[in-house]
Amino acid sequence: MSQADRISEFRSCEVLMLKSGGAFSECMLLTKNLEVLSGYTSRIGELLESLGDGKRGRKEEKQGEEDKVLPSMSPTAKELKEGVPPPNCIEFKGVTVGAPEPSGKTRVLIRELDLRVSPGLNVLVTGPNGAGKTSIFRVLAGLWQPLAGSTSRPVDPIMWLPQDPYLVTGTLRDQVTYPMLLRNPSEEVDARVRNALLEAGLKKILDRSTVGLDQVCKEWRNELSGGERQRMAFARLFFHNPKFAVLDEATSAINAEGELSLYSKLLKTQCTIFSIAHRTALRKFHKLELEFAGDGSGGYTFYKLDANGSGVTRVKVDSSKLDMEDAE
Ligand SMILES: Nc1ncnc2c1ncn2[C@@H]1O[C@H](COP(=O)(O)OP(=O)(O)OP(=O)(O)O)[C@@H](O)[C@H]1O
Ligand SMILES: [Mg+2]
Repeated sequence: MSQADRISEFRSCEVLMLKSGGAFSECMLLTKNLEVLSGYTSRIGELLESLGDGKRGRKEEKQGEEDKVLPSMSPTAKELKEGVPPPNCIEFKGVTVGAPEPSGKTRVLIRELDLRVSPGLNVLVTGPNGAGKTSIFRVLAGLWQPLAGSTSRPVDPIMWLPQDPYLVTGTLRDQVTYPMLLRNPSEEVDARVRNALLEAGLKKILDRSTVGLDQVCKEWRNELSGGERQRMAFARLFFHNPKFAVLDEATSAINAEGELSLYSKLLKTQCTIFSIAHRTALRKFHKLELEFAGDGSGGYTFYKLDANGSGVTRVKVDSSKLDMEDAE
């Protein structure tokens, strides 16, 4: 073999080796993507299964076989009849929550959570990122099955304020009344919508509009800043005035002063709130703090919060001694 042939063979081998290296790293990437896909598939499977369970539960209830009704997120007729759990409260009974991992294993986030939230007991949920704060509400909403235990929701709907609220395509009015979309709103409704916007500190959005509440935007997301979007969710809250609300870092983009003002207004309503927040300044608006350890143990601690003139006293409390009845 001539030298030129050897060089040419060497080049071909070099190219082949480079290509196989590339193919190998693509395979690695593909494996990772497949693991993520398997995680999603398993979650969707569980969701479909629990939806199926819910349907089955309702069907069996209709047939009068109440003892076969699977636990649902709202109290069943049987539970209400027996008074267990008491109506109009949120309850976690021995709830253990785990996060599914791509490997198929489950990581325990919280172990045996016992908590009953009667009207008036505002709870602040704290803990490190990834500790499972949002996850307990995924369980409460029925999106995740708990590993153990059960939850109950009140008869009244619970309003959810996420960190990044959804904005609907439509008018300014629609943003406030969502998920209720009104075709022919009365003057009384419009007055309530305007008031909700003012309460939420969105007067300038109203002033900016040339056609008042009928202002239409193709993409409201691009019209409002992050803080304004969160304020819009508060306008929704003030408009609907629900009995219970979960605020999941719902004021993270709002300045400290604005956040305190919104919470002060919220406290004047009849709404019982569950706040997930990192800012300790919010303690004064709550009666109980549930702190997640977030260290893989599934542990948690309760603190009774007591706002006074000089600040807030925070006293650790044994969960078995929690006296929820004094909430009202
Ligand atoms: N849809 C999901 N599918 C699988 N695992 C998830 C999903 N959402 C969250 N997790 C996992 O569950 C764990 C707890 O998440 P969670 O959202 O409850 O944390 P968090 O305490 O609310 O954190 P943060 O303060 O960052 O909002 C995280 O480790 C996360 O990776
Ligand atoms: Mg969260």
